[in-house]
Amino acid sequence: MEMPKNNPGDIFNGFHKLPLKKKIEILKNFCHLSKEDLFLLKKYQELPDFVDFENNIGPFKIATHFIVNQKEYFVPMETEEPSVVAAASAGAKFFKKTGGFFGERKENKIIGQIQFEKKGNFQKNKKILEKEKEKILKMANETNPFLFKIGGGAQDFFLKKIKNYFVFYLIVDPKDAQGANIINTMLERIAPFISKLTNQKIIGAIVSNFSPLRIVKLKGKIFLSDLKKEFPRMKVKEIVKRILALLELARNDIFRAVTHNKGIMNGIDALFLATGNDFRAQEAAVHSFAIKKGKYQPLTHWKIEKNFLIGEIELPLISATVGGATQTKKALLAQKILRLKSSQELAFVCAAVGLANNFSAMLRIVTEGIQKGHMKLHKEFLKRL
Ligand code: MEV
Repeated sequence: MEMPKNNPGDIFNGFHKLPLKKKIEILKNFCHLSKEDLFLLKKYQELPDFVDFENNIGPFKIATHFIVNQKEYFVPMETEEPSVVAAASAGAKFFKKTGGFFGERKENKIIGQIQFEKKGNFQKNKKILEKEKEKILKMANETNPFLFKIGGGAQDFFLKKIKNYFVFYLIVDPKDAQGANIINTMLERIAPFISKLTNQKIIGAIVSNFSPLRIVKLKGKIFLSDLKKEFPRMKVKEIVKRILALLELARNDIFRAVTHNKGIMNGIDALFLATGNDFRAQEAAVHSFAIKKGKYQPLTHWKIEKNFLIGEIELPLISATVGGATQTKKALLAQKILRLKSSQELAFVCAAVGLANNFSAMLRIVTEGIQKGHMKLHKEFLKRL
């Protein structure tokens, strides 16, 4: 059977070995980079610390082989660690052979809270606020008419009695923004009104980085036979057994689980930095999600089905494509290289990077050990400094 000439993901083949100039040319054509974009890249390449290594193109390094929801992505990563980028690309290459990664998200909402000194009856105050719900949401949305116009904004609230406090939780759809500034403005606007309605003193109002309404689920699979190709001297059964054992340890031991998740965040943080996103908020969201049931858990799950190793990742993602530092020249260039249409798409790419890095780390740990590849890259990098 004749193979079709253009398989999805062919664009990535050999990219890694090309000279910098050729890499830039491919990115220019594939991502429709402008003269200004190329000028910006050049300026970064002229910096004294620029090292032409591991797909470094200036402001960031580029991970390859990512196909997410059937779209190909060159992934810009800002990290001091070349092995994070190499591991992401190497991991993604396995998934590419089965069609890549598939992600979904039900909702994307940010939550903020206002703390009041509790006074009077909780249920009575709750009823008062529920009666005024429309007014409260309207007041919140008046702070951002544009967001409201495009279908986002304050949508609901819930209330809790915690210790001696009355706590108001606002739920906001931030659309393509991260939402912290948006919700903080809303909270500060409505707090005095709620205080007046319930006769309770305001203590403070702020966004919550716990993000249970921003969960992304993403899957991908790997041919077991590809593990054999990578490690011909090992039995596939043994590799898989060890991967699953490593995961079992993560499910039952916080020492392993935190490191497992750190490896997942390696690439996600790098992608957050490249795209001007708040990686500290993302870290906070992820680790609080990992312990939401009281026991710190790994963010990924792995299982065997027929001839495949199936990987799944579930995590909150707060990545944005509008607002704040996402609009710097560098961040906009990163978005252009990703060919993004929405923040949702960026969230799926982040999840894919997390799953790819996790797979690469586990595979190396249970086979040749993590240091072999890592140190090789590190030494090469130091030579080129
Ligand atoms: C190192 O930056 C990340 C790893 O420790 C992740 C892991 O252990 O799964 C290799």
